[in-house]
Amino acid sequence: MPLKVTSTNRPSAFLAMAVLSATRELEAEGADVIHLEVGQPSTPPPAAVSDALTASLTTTATHGYSLAFGEMPLRKRIAGHYDEFYGHSVPADRIVITPGSSLGFALAFLAAFDRGDRIAITTPGYPAYRNLMVSLGIEPVLMPARADEGWVPSLKALAESGEPLPDGILLASPANPTGVVMNDEAVREVCDWCHQNGVRLIMDEIYHGLTFGRKTATALAFSDSVIVVNSFSKYFCMTGWRVGWAIFPDDLLETVERLAQNLYIGPPKPMQAGALAAFDDYAGLKVNVDRYQENRDVLVTTLPPEFLGDMAPCEGAFYLYADISGLSGGGVDSVELADAMLRQIHVACTPGLDFDQEQGRNHLRLSFAGSTAHMKEASRRINDWLPKFLADH
Ligand SMILES: Cc1ncc(COP(=O)(O)O)c(C=O)c1O
Repeated sequence: MPLKVTSTNRPSAFLAMAVLSATRELEAEGADVIHLEVGQPSTPPPAAVSDALTASLTTTATHGYSLAFGEMPLRKRIAGHYDEFYGHSVPADRIVITPGSSLGFALAFLAAFDRGDRIAITTPGYPAYRNLMVSLGIEPVLMPARADEGWVPSLKALAESGEPLPDGILLASPANPTGVVMNDEAVREVCDWCHQNGVRLIMDEIYHGLTFGRKTATALAFSDSVIVVNSFSKYFCMTGWRVGWAIFPDDLLETVERLAQNLYIGPPKPMQAGALAAFDDYAGLKVNVDRYQENRDVLVTTLPPEFLGDMAPCEGAFYLYADISGLSGGGVDSVELADAMLRQIHVACTPGLDFDQEQGRNHLRLSFAGSTAHMKEASRRINDWLPKFLADH
């Protein structure tokens, strides 16, 4: 007799991963693929991070379980980062080290919400929010955002939708896939609105540090009840290390600790020893941010305007969300376009369907986390190829 497999808690497929496996197959055949699909830095973390990890492996200190909230030296070092980077003090005992920010979201959803609760998220947005919520029996409430409104969703529209207010709101700034950065006043307004309406706010700050020509305040500066999720993956170039952190308000700490103990016992100890050294080279990390900014400028100024379409300015993270709806009078689908680009000119990018199940066929996400030489070469290939593709289409 067939065994039961869940049908209600199943997350939808992740197209980016399908692109990645097609890319791997082509590379195995010797193709020179340019990666505009992956949302990860192409450069390593600061050298001191790897040195600290290596040194920690030769001691017995990193062999056992970590405490559920992680090791205090790292939690204190992150508190120091908030002082240095934002000029804002956060008590180390509210800082929870997580195995990537992904587990930070799981803790937040489980600790602050019940099955049947509703959390508003932006669409287009990072697909794991929606998928994880569905798996946990939480209902995602989609807040549509539009390029001509800077891809920032409207709380007014949410309040006037005629539906009950959601139990929570989750926002990311800088955002994936649009690269849009909320200004500090807008973050303050969301914090105030959530506070006044009894709505729990989760801010995804994992692309903090990756902003071009401006700094961003943390939502912690405006709210004591916000849950802030962050990570070593992006700014610190440590995607594969799987270390992140989240800052929880006092009322959730006890539940979060029990959840962490039962979900993963504690975050990996050697990775925490490495991460402790990540904050000592802000100047080195700034070189990456300058490169991303240059890469963005290369793509924005050299790609065909009809390929980029009606795109809001990207001021952070490392993504452009191209609007291809004007191509060939609107007859081009982003899944088809991404597939043709990968197979014919070996440029990989992600169809927007991952980020927006309704409008995503009109968009492509281009990651510019690679080298500037690769951005120039990708643009050259697209410029040479697009007229032929459209003529044959
Ligand atoms: C907006 C956003 N949040 C969270 C994550 C998860 O990151 P990690 O688990 O590596 O910290 C990602 C990864 O791409 C992301 O784009």
